[in-house]
Amino acid sequence: MEGEEMSQLRKVRRKILLFPLPLQGHVIPMFNLANILHSKGFSIILIHTRYNSPDPTHFPHLTFHFLEDGLPQNSRLTSNDLTTVLSAIQSNCVQPLQDCLSQILSAAATDQEPVACLISDPMYSFAGSVAQSFNLPRMVLRTGGMSAFVLYDSLPMLRQNGYFPLQVAKFDEPVPELPPLKVKDLPPEVQHGILATTVKETKNSQGVICNTLEELEDYAIATVQQSIPYPIFPIGPMHKYSQTSAASILQPDHTSLSWLNTQPPKTVLYVSFGSIAVISETEFLEMAWGLANSRQPFLWVVRPGLSKDSELSEMLPVGYSQIVGERGKIVKWAPQLEVLSHPAVGGFWTHCGWNSTVESICEGVPMLCLPFFADQAINARHICDNWKIGLRLEKKTRENIESAITKLMADGDSAEMRIRITAFKEKAKLCLQKDGSSYESLERLTNYLTSL
Ligand code: UDX
Repeated sequence: MEGEEMSQLRKVRRKILLFPLPLQGHVIPMFNLANILHSKGFSIILIHTRYNSPDPTHFPHLTFHFLEDGLPQNSRLTSNDLTTVLSAIQSNCVQPLQDCLSQILSAAATDQEPVACLISDPMYSFAGSVAQSFNLPRMVLRTGGMSAFVLYDSLPMLRQNGYFPLQVAKFDEPVPELPPLKVKDLPPEVQHGILATTVKETKNSQGVICNTLEELEDYAIATVQQSIPYPIFPIGPMHKYSQTSAASILQPDHTSLSWLNTQPPKTVLYVSFGSIAVISETEFLEMAWGLANSRQPFLWVVRPGLSKDSELSEMLPVGYSQIVGERGKIVKWAPQLEVLSHPAVGGFWTHCGWNSTVESICEGVPMLCLPFFADQAINARHICDNWKIGLRLEKKTRENIESAITKLMADGDSAEMRIRITAFKEKAKLCLQKDGSSYESLERLTNYLTSL
């Protein structure tokens, strides 16, 4: 489009509708996108389920529309009830989304602010068809990595090649079609339905925004682009445009930071498994002893719901806090961005959720990887075997945990990993600056949204 024509179009303020999936790891990047697009001059309307909504009063610059989802409020979501919650939303929210779009579009027709498009989470199976029924353009925000998307898109081919059902005996064999993945990184068949939906909803959209950067996933981005006729906009790391933790569903404990202030530089291991992973009591106790025996300072997030049945922080062995003393701090939820950027933090024991992965890379903090489900095994494989910026925790015994922590935190073994992740940190900074890859991508996105 010609420059003059584009500048005429830009004079008309446009509305963008955002529709996040109500899971913490999906809500945070969608709210980051809301802030980014608002700063580019768009009016932003957040369409959110009542379930798991961040507090709208933290976002006075955004307009909210809530969908009645029929789910119990204030329930704790864990990976165990993910399928139930997702299918309830998929079946309960179709009509509310239709009503909501109808209301927003009629209001927009009178207030001179046209709606440019809906940006939805591609895990919603119905957002595409509902938008289409209004002839409303729709894009998607891919909140996970593009390497994981390449795998999801390859599942029919891998099924044909005989990988499924997965066989435990073959877990350590490579998947030559998708290096460096191993058989154990592939998602089990029970997840293929939702992954196929994600692929379909992404491919049927009119553009893909993703929280990644060319410098990290150029090959995967190029591969996905070959199978999608519309543009891909890698604009990450999205949390770096404006530091806001207000999209947090749980309340972060800021004493984490005052405690970190008392610890020497690069000595603290930060431990967090994101918002929905679940561990058993036995695993919790092995972790507790592994952390204590490593003699390394640690900040450990023991989230309510981390265990299915019990409040884990009450399960600590008798005398544990005396043994660990000031060397260990346990919180229910941490201000993770501030924690990772704190000079005292030298390592991150993570479940390898995509947000945590990107956030750790941006602060140059090497990772100890313990993936649980979904894309986490794929992310962990790339962290350890492709980008070589982390170690994998192979066994969850206290002895193994202790030695893995020592390996990650000691200078010798992890020196090269630290050099590599520091180089990525630098690239993640540069890509947001003028002429950087994500900066350029955001410029393209802004023009694209204006032209829709
Ligand atoms: C989920 C999946 O696990 C993940 O694999 C997928 O890519 C996205 O959805 P989640 O498990 O919550 O997300 O992990 P992650 O993607 O890492 O997101 C967690 C977010 O919560 C991060 O932005 C992190 O900064 C934040 N967080 C986590 C806190 O602010 N405080 C904490 O104590 C823990």
